Amino acid sequence: MGRDPKRPARRRSTGLPLKVPAEFLEEIIGFLRRSPLQLLHIPVARINLAARRIKSLGEADIQTLEDGDASITNTVLHNLNGLKSASALERPWRIIAPLLGIFHLCVKLETAKVLTVGPRTENELFILLAAGFREENITGLDLISYSEKVKLGDMHRMPFAADSFDVIVLGWVLAYSNDVEKAVSEVLRVAKPGAYVTVGWEYNPKTSEELARESGSIVSGGRVNHAEEILGLFGDHVDYVHFKSEPHPDMWDNTTDVVAVFRLK
Ligand SMILES: C[S@@+](CC[C@H](N)C(=O)[O-])C[C@H]1O[C@@H](n2cnc3c(N)ncnc32)[C@H](O)[C@@H]1O
Repeated sequence: MGRDPKRPARRRSTGLPLKVPAEFLEEIIGFLRRSPLQLLHIPVARINLAARRIKSLGEADIQTLEDGDASITNTVLHNLNGLKSASALERPWRIIAPLLGIFHLCVKLETAKVLTVGPRTENELFILLAAGFREENITGLDLISYSEKVKLGDMHRMPFAADSFDVIVLGWVLAYSNDVEKAVSEVLRVAKPGAYVTVGWEYNPKTSEELARESGSIVSGGRVNHAEEILGLFGDHVDYVHFKSEPHPDMWDNTTDVVAVFRLK
């Protein structure tokens, strides 16, 4: 028996709310096939891409900085494990997204040169691409690298000329420094005048002694409980503070973020 011609054809379900028609969805999928860069705007897609890339790596694909310094060797081992478990992949979004609220930066995103120190995974690079920075303007610096965009190097001796970057991303990396003053002086050296800096740090309710007793804890760059402490590291070089995120009182017994986003003089 054929379909009653007076009866309207049943819509194919797209699985989307608000009865989005199937042809709309197909058009969007076609658009994504033609412009795959847009996929990086979808968190689940970029996390999946970054995680698959990490899973596909062999030992020989991962380079590490070997300079004989014991604290660097410990940091490398600790972060290689973190890389393999691919944890915290989306965390950098929380310090890169606030940059997009800065109109003066938004109008020059396409030409802005950005350095991310300690990205660990390519997901941080994907996030910068999704934010609107261009691939040729993105540079990473880390003690470990499996990516052609991430240079091997130490944040205390950055292999870059002075006045090189318009934006510097320091995502949960300064805590690994055994000489935060030196690391900050390197940031100030390679930053262009008026550069934007975004910093993420972990707030942890444990004392330094408790952390030091914990096996595997190699974080030596000091504790941070307030965004003001991050700003204090940059002192008089800070021209304007765009964003601060302090630990919420509900989270004082947990680990959470401390974030500061500012412009340098
Ligand atoms: C905790 S991970 C942060 C990863 C990522 N930025 C995030 O927000 O999740 C710290 C990264 O900083 C890198 N790192 C630690 N000490 C460093 C140093 N002296 N110079 C450059 N990178 C360093 C580590 O290798 C690691 O990839």
